[in-house]
Amino acid sequence: MSKHLIAPSLLAADFLDLQSSIALVNESKADWFHLDVMDGRFVPNISFGMFIIKQISTLAKKPLDVHLMIEEPERYISAFAAAGAQSITVHYEACPHLHRTIQQIKEAGCRAGVALNPHTPVSLVEDIIEDLDLLLLMSVNPGFGGQKFIYRTISRIEQARSMIITHNSRALIEVDGGVGLQNAQKILSAGADVLVAGSAVFKAEDPRWVIEQMKGISENPVGMV
Ligand code: DX5
Ligand code: ZN
Repeated sequence: MSKHLIAPSLLAADFLDLQSSIALVNESKADWFHLDVMDGRFVPNISFGMFIIKQISTLAKKPLDVHLMIEEPERYISAFAAAGAQSITVHYEACPHLHRTIQQIKEAGCRAGVALNPHTPVSLVEDIIEDLDLLLLMSVNPGFGGQKFIYRTISRIEQARSMIITHNSRALIEVDGGVGLQNAQKILSAGADVLVAGSAVFKAEDPRWVIEQMKGISENPVGMV
């Protein structure tokens, strides 16, 4: 059994038929729903907010993993928790008082995550890694689905993994952007725990099959230990 988690991103789903996409994830081998909140300020795109997330939570049978690509996320933590988020991830680049924001997420009863843009050094979260439940490494520039995986992320995952081991942190490493069957094995072998996949799942002919394949990948295939 593989221990990694799969978190399909609904950003790539058909918004006129979200019910079907939610049912598909419910019935699949996926572990979480990944929900991308964009404010048109921190990132150059606007997606959806707590109202839609609250609606999704009424149908979703798996945890809601909320990725806040917004400025001043501390203003909305309790609202997203109330909307049904089980984990809330904020961007390092948007949080001048990151330690406080992390505590706020935990006090709201959620798993706390920090996301790093592709250019932000992994080492910058070293002093907070022990407080995190999730470390999300962006493998594209945030704001849009369907972009190409930035290959440099592989060594960033390795770096994050060794930092987590050194600090005895429970943080899971989540990789987000351009993830698909073509690179999932490499990402897992580098030390990732959670694969976010939007287009690779929802633009596929058979999304459930893609999820099943991703879930079935072994972290250490023969000859790659
Ligand atoms: C990008 C979002 C991602 C996005 C991934 O800003 O954070 O979660 O939905 O989409 P794909 O898998 O299509 O790159
Ligand atoms: Zn995301």
